[in-house]
Formats: sequence, C-alpha cells, structure tokens
Amino acid sequence: MTEPRKLYVRTYGCQMNVYDSERMAEALAPAGYVATDSPDDADMILLNTCHIREKAAEKVYSELGRFKPLKAARPDLKIGVAGCVAQAEGEEMMRRQPMVDLVIGPQSYHRLPALEAKLREGGRAVETEFPAEDKFDHLPQRPKATRGPTAFLTVQEGCDKFCAFCVVPYTRGAEVSRPAARVLSEARDLVARGVREVTLLGQNVNAYHGEGPEGGEWSLARLVRALAEVEGLERIRYTTSHPNDMDDDLIAAHGDCAKLMPYLHLPVQAGSDRILKRMNRKHTAESYIRLIERIRAARPDILISGDFIVGFPEETEEDFRATLDLVEAVNYGYAFSFKYSPRPGTPAAERAQVDPAEAQDRLERLQALLGRQQRAVQDAMVGREVSVLFEKPGRFPGQMAGKSEYLHAVHVEDPRAEAGSIGRVRVTESHPNSLSGVLVGD
Ligand code: 5AD
Ligand code: SF4
Repeated sequence: MTEPRKLYVRTYGCQMNVYDSERMAEALAPAGYVATDSPDDADMILLNTCHIREKAAEKVYSELGRFKPLKAARPDLKIGVAGCVAQAEGEEMMRRQPMVDLVIGPQSYHRLPALEAKLREGGRAVETEFPAEDKFDHLPQRPKATRGPTAFLTVQEGCDKFCAFCVVPYTRGAEVSRPAARVLSEARDLVARGVREVTLLGQNVNAYHGEGPEGGEWSLARLVRALAEVEGLERIRYTTSHPNDMDDDLIAAHGDCAKLMPYLHLPVQAGSDRILKRMNRKHTAESYIRLIERIRAARPDILISGDFIVGFPEETEEDFRATLDLVEAVNYGYAFSFKYSPRPGTPAAERAQVDPAEAQDRLERLQALLGRQQRAVQDAMVGREVSVLFEKPGRFPGQMAGKSEYLHAVHVEDPRAEAGSIGRVRVTESHPNSLSGVLVGD
C-alpha cells in the first residue's frame, strides 16, 4: 500500500467555508489524502479563504509567505488557494505568488480531484468559472464515518441582492439552490452517521427555491417541514437570511415546526432609511421592526441575532443614532458588528468614506449597546429550563457542553449527559460566554 498523503486545510470566514472545507477533504480522500492538523508534515496545503472584509487578499499573500520555507524544503508540497479570495484574484494569484500550484473558486470544487491529478504531474491550475451544474453533484458521497451531533448542510449559494457594500454576488455568483431531494438524502445520511442537528447554509438561505422531488419549486419553509419528518433529526437551523425573503410560510414554520429552533439570524445592517437605501437593502427600519414583530408573534421566545455595519459612506451621527434606536427596538440576543470596509468592485467603495476615527467610535458605542443586550438576554435564561444538545466534554473535568435551542453554550456536570443526547437543563448561572445548569431529565 502507498503511504497516505497528508492534507492540511485552513478555513477562514463563514460557515459555508467550513462546510466546503469538509467536502474538499472528502473529495481528495480517494486520491489517498488524509487530514493532518499541521502544515509542517502536509503534502498539500489548502487555504479556504474569505473576501468579505478588509485586506483579505493581502492577508492570504502574507499567509502564503509563511509556507515558503516548507515549500523550499519540500518542492513536492502542493499549495492551493480556494474560496472567495481565490475567486476574486484568479490568475493574478499565480503571478504574484509563484509558490501557489492551484487557485480554485468556490463553484469549482467538483473539479478538485482532476486538478489534483494535474498538480501531481507537475502542472499548475486556475479554475474560477461559474459552471451551471451543482458543484456537489460530482463530489463523492460522504463516507460513512461517524461524526459529531451537529453539521452544516449547504442548500443554497450565491446572492442576487447586490447590497452596495458586499462582494458576495461577485465572488459566489448568482443564487443557486440545490434540489430538495439531494438535501434530504444528505440530511438522512448525516443522521445515519450520528448527526442530530443540521444548520442549513446559504448566503441568502431564505431565498431558497430548490427543485422539488416531484417537480415544481420548494421554498425554505417547505424544505424545513420535510426535514422535520426525517426520523432522528431533532433540530433544524438556517443561516443567513435577508429580511425581504422571510415569507409567511417560513414565519409560520417558526410557530408550528417544533424542530425548527427558536433562533434567527436576520441581518439589518443599519437603522437609517437613508443609509439602507444607499446600501440597496430594499427595506426600511420600520418594515424590519414590523417583520420582527410578526416573527415574535409566531414564536414569542425566538432569539434574534443580526449583523451591523457602521461608518457606511455618508453615514452621519444622526444616521448612526437611528441604528442605535433600531437596536433598542429589537433587543438582540446576539450580534456581529463591523466597520464598513470598501471592497473593490462594489458600488459603495467609490463613495466618500467616513472618517475612520469616527467609524471606530460608532463601532464601540454600538458594540457596548449590543453587548449589554446580549448579556441581558443570556442572563434572563437563569432559572429557566432549556433543551440542550450535548456536543463534547467541557473545559473542566466532568463537564459536558452543548447548545440550548437559543444557541447559548450550556454546560453541566452530570455523567448522564452524553454527547449526542438532548437533555432538559435548568439554568443556574450565567457566565461571560456560557450558561451552566443542572440536568432535570430528558
Ligand atoms: N464592510 C463591512 N462589513 C461587511 N459585511 C459584508 N460586507 C461588508 C463590508 N464591505 C458584513 C455584513 C454581512 C456580514 C456577513 O458581513 O454585515 O451581513
Ligand atoms: Fe451580501 Fe447578504 Fe446583501 Fe447578498 S444579501 S449582497 S450576501 S449582504
């Protein structure tokens, strides 16, 4: 038997990249690759990159620079760059960094086995086309190895929204939904391997409109309801969504589908209508707040999470205060906030930029408010019973850690709490990033 080749994959950015990295590793398994945790003994290094914010390409180039001694010592080492920076840089990456053997965009991963064979013959390859076919179609089926209790499952990719700050529509291309039957069979396979919770992924996942098993189109709500029928699958989540694609059925599903978890990531980005318009968001602060009210009417305890950008071109202090007002009105349980970063090729990059010190100050004020809300929402769990899917041992001996339905990290000290089991936990304490509690039964 030949020695296995070692593959080191480093993943940056969103959960979709996490999913893609897993699938790339699986795609290379038939060529004899096994995963390694260190670049030092790897035969192939793959960087799965993210382009969403500042200096993404520069960071990748400097990261690549660090592999130079390895490549010098072992010229057979193959270095590949995947993900959104690969898509954006393409040929340029080959020119600037001769050490790179492979540049592969996110829509081309099904070509990975063929390209790897080409590399072994001493070639280099750049692949950044947007083929019409499903990139997962030609990837090998997941091998039957067992896995942890939670998994990501990509159901939709790309985005047609063209928010003025965002590179996604350029790096990931137009919206494409995977057929429902394929998603369902992948979910069943994951369940057979021990998965009890899936998070459906898409850049704009609530715009999902995949082909139905008997023709026609399925919405995300329809897909969620069908997944809820899969025996052994206990929890369903999805991320990330655009407010304008929250249709009535999906809102209703939050109320009547017990397996759909009460957590919703629904980015708003800003609270000023003037800025929302300049961002090409196609919704107002008011319509977003009304939408949240409708979702909460369907599922009163739902935890809302969001994304925010401060310092978007032309944002004034008054505009920024409208963001703070919106945050006050919504009460977020979780949030991600960013300083605007101009992405080349996007409309907003050409506009007058806000003073960086001002943007920093706004970011700190917004984060202080969001931090207080987040903490209050988490603290309010103390004394309540939550359902926890246990995932792995906690940081301290005897601890088992998992996630509540609201996605809070929860740990207990109880030998009955086994990885993969779901238990009722009475929350006793709130810590900076987690809750602790006691098991009260199943
Ligand atoms: N600058 C800052 N934040 C951005 N995001 C996307 N593009 C940019 C940008 N150019 C943020 C948005 C989005 C999240 C994934 O990243 O808030 O929802
Ligand atoms: Fe980017 Fe999301 Fe807007 Fe699409 S909806 S352009 S992915 S921010």
